Amino acid sequence: SWNMGSFLEESVKDIRQRVGNRQVLCALSGGVDSSVAAVLVHRAVADNLTCVFVDHGLLRKDEARQVVDTFQNQFNIKLIHVDASERFLGKLKGVTDPEEKRKIIGNEFIRVFEEEAGKLGEIDFLVQGTLYPDVVESGTATAAVIKSHHNVGGLPEDMHFELVEPLRWLFKDEVRRLGEELGLPSDIVWRQPFPGPGLAVRILGEITREKLDILREADFVVTDEIKKAGLDREIWQYFAVLPSMRSVGVMGDGRTYAYAVVVRAVHSHDGMTADWYRIPYEVLAKISSRMVNEVNEVNRVVYDITSKPPGTIEWE
Ligand code: XMP
Repeated sequence: SWNMGSFLEESVKDIRQRVGNRQVLCALSGGVDSSVAAVLVHRAVADNLTCVFVDHGLLRKDEARQVVDTFQNQFNIKLIHVDASERFLGKLKGVTDPEEKRKIIGNEFIRVFEEEAGKLGEIDFLVQGTLYPDVVESGTATAAVIKSHHNVGGLPEDMHFELVEPLRWLFKDEVRRLGEELGLPSDIVWRQPFPGPGLAVRILGEITREKLDILREADFVVTDEIKKAGLDREIWQYFAVLPSMRSVGVMGDGRTYAYAVVVRAVHSHDGMTADWYRIPYEVLAKISSRMVNEVNEVNRVVYDITSKPPGTIEWE
């Protein structure tokens, strides 16, 4: 019977045979798919794989450190960590339109990735974490549009690589099982979907370092409490949004004027439709009190109870 262990062995054998001693490149995002693909390919070709992790500075709290820890220190994968946050923030300065933000981030991502790849000498293969549903979907025009809209790390057009797509026969749950088989930490294997443009689409209006720092802390409170409540594998996506809106509050004898944070949690199967998740009141209460106590500059917490449609999961 078919099992993950034998799939793993077969894949490793295939990749090794195909690659030989040529060089493989992988754009690592820290998401489930690229992580599993990278570790699988690494098992097959070891140091012939180089991973490039473009850190656009729009990641969640501790995320970059965790990627480096896992892949470089734990798996001994050759990893180039590019801290490009200055560059991305510079390009995003003054930009408020959501699609404009996406475009800038997508273009910059490709530019940084190409620059790094250019320093590496001859590369023959590129790893892509394409899954079976992506393969099937990309048969239709709509799907192609959705993909190009949603995938920041698209393929640079003028790079001539052969693709290695070791996950192209798998569904998401199978990718997770494979990740576990490969010894990836469960934080990565069970990671919730996270948009390529990252926190940029969760801060309404202009993105600044200050807002990013606030949102990172706020988001950490949400994810931490959801995890403590044992709901982290239960809820499809849960996060904080910063609508860049301030309101009046009171603390001690004083009046405050600080940011409001939105808590968003949805139940979904594919992200195309979603229902707002009914987080238990006690959990919401903890999130709320921790948020205003622990996150400076936040004095109000609201809960988004909109389903998709008509709302979207993200706020931008
Ligand atoms: P929406 O907000 O459109 O989100 O209901 C549906 C799913 O897609 C994710 N999403 C993105 N993913 N780049 C991505 O890689 C994007 O620009 C992007 N926008 C939304 C969102 O997190 C949800 O899972």
